Amino acid sequence: APANTPGAGECGRPDHQRWANFAPAKFYELRVKPARHSFHPELPEQDVWGYDGMMPGPTFVARYGEPVLVRIHNELPANHVGYGSPEISTHLHNLHCGSESDGFTGDYYSATKYGPTMTGPGAYKDHLYSNCYAGYDSSSSTDGDSREALGTLWYHDHRLDYTAQNVYRGLSGFYLLFDELDSGDENDPNPAALRLPSGVGKYDIPLVFQDKQFDSGGYLAFDQFETDGILGDKFCVNGKIQPYFKVEPRKYRFRLLDGGPSRFYEFYLTFRGADQMFTYIANDGNLLPKPLMMSKIRLGVAERADIIIDFSKYAGGTLYLENRLEQVNGRGPTGNILKPGTQLLRFDVATTRTGPDNSRIPSKLRELPPVDLSEVVATRTFIFDRSNGGWTVNGKLFDVSKATVKPKRGTAEIWILKVNGDWSHPVHIHFEEGRILKRNGVAPPPHEQGRKDVYVLGNNEELRVFLRFRDYVGKYMMHCHNLIHEDHAMMIRFDIED
Ligand code: C2O
Ligand code: CU
Repeated sequence: APANTPGAGECGRPDHQRWANFAPAKFYELRVKPARHSFHPELPEQDVWGYDGMMPGPTFVARYGEPVLVRIHNELPANHVGYGSPEISTHLHNLHCGSESDGFTGDYYSATKYGPTMTGPGAYKDHLYSNCYAGYDSSSSTDGDSREALGTLWYHDHRLDYTAQNVYRGLSGFYLLFDELDSGDENDPNPAALRLPSGVGKYDIPLVFQDKQFDSGGYLAFDQFETDGILGDKFCVNGKIQPYFKVEPRKYRFRLLDGGPSRFYEFYLTFRGADQMFTYIANDGNLLPKPLMMSKIRLGVAERADIIIDFSKYAGGTLYLENRLEQVNGRGPTGNILKPGTQLLRFDVATTRTGPDNSRIPSKLRELPPVDLSEVVATRTFIFDRSNGGWTVNGKLFDVSKATVKPKRGTAEIWILKVNGDWSHPVHIHFEEGRILKRNGVAPPPHEQGRKDVYVLGNNEELRVFLRFRDYVGKYMMHCHNLIHEDHAMMIRFDIED
């Protein structure tokens, strides 16, 4: 344990109490700092900001029920050049954790001091990622119903008003959660194990898609006066512009993340110009109940999709992952599907494998917990709109100091999310995952029937979402994850109370 981690938790501070209840099994330190980065061999090497100086940051591999403590040091210079804020607040997107570790947008700190909503020595902040909900019981076999976020999570900066700029400069990374079913081992002898393609960085590959603009000198540029949304004409995958990846002729799991700031994608896999099928296994942070065969996947900002591509029939060949969704401004995609699209990533398939492929695509993945509507005690409507000179929720700009709604711990609610006008808003709710009951009055498509934390809304659309507030009290956020809308006040704070 770190030297100044409080022990028993008698002091009553919720973070200290949680450290007592969920003793960290691992301790990590991250340093947020400037670093040299190359987006492309034809562009100059340049300064970006990164967790541990990397863009994207290091990938965490975590186990459900095994708490970790992450100390995040801020080593950004106070007098930096250009856009972005040297104050940070790190959010682990889709993790179920205490409010004090959730990276609340006002909980930011610089290299020398804490911001307005915290006290302490500054320079770093500890985050307890319990990696389970409070009622987790590792000895109970029915406990699985209450588990959440068991797959592809990501962490990113959440600094009030500067999230887009800081994430754009490099502050994001992956956090992957495994358990005994999705164990991350394709050779797992446990008969319950799914044995999906495994080995993070080997056959299990997280991919973050982020479009960027560069100035005439080849340096990363950000337009601070564009309030609808920022679109880039260069497409980065894991920080590199339209890269290639050498694969073996076997199955791979890819974890696709739309890392923003504002673009939507529709991904296609092509071989010799023809669309190929792949297997869709997880949406956002969880496996679907069963795999879906697909030829395309659409993602809004912050949404994730895990897919399995079987390269065994393409030995020696070349495939592309393409985006064909047209988007011309920050309002959202036009809906037109362009052909040809943009080739975001090339796969060069080797002629032979280096070893056996023992991975499987099981016919069943993870069961969905039941939705019990009798638990619902309140229905609330949230309208996402452009009004009052900004981006609003129910006509109001974000106020960091007060909660708009106060759900009660131990209850369930229905939240109706609605867009006013011709805009797209990928809405994210922190802390508790929800289930989409209705999309525009009808059942959502199969891939949206799983547990969600990002709810994509198009022009004048409406979603009905079921949410349960199970364990902790505290302050959390809901906001549009078009990062530009988020920074222009399309956010609410909600406090879970007793
Ligand atoms: Cu991905 Cu409130 O964040
Ligand atoms: Cu929006």
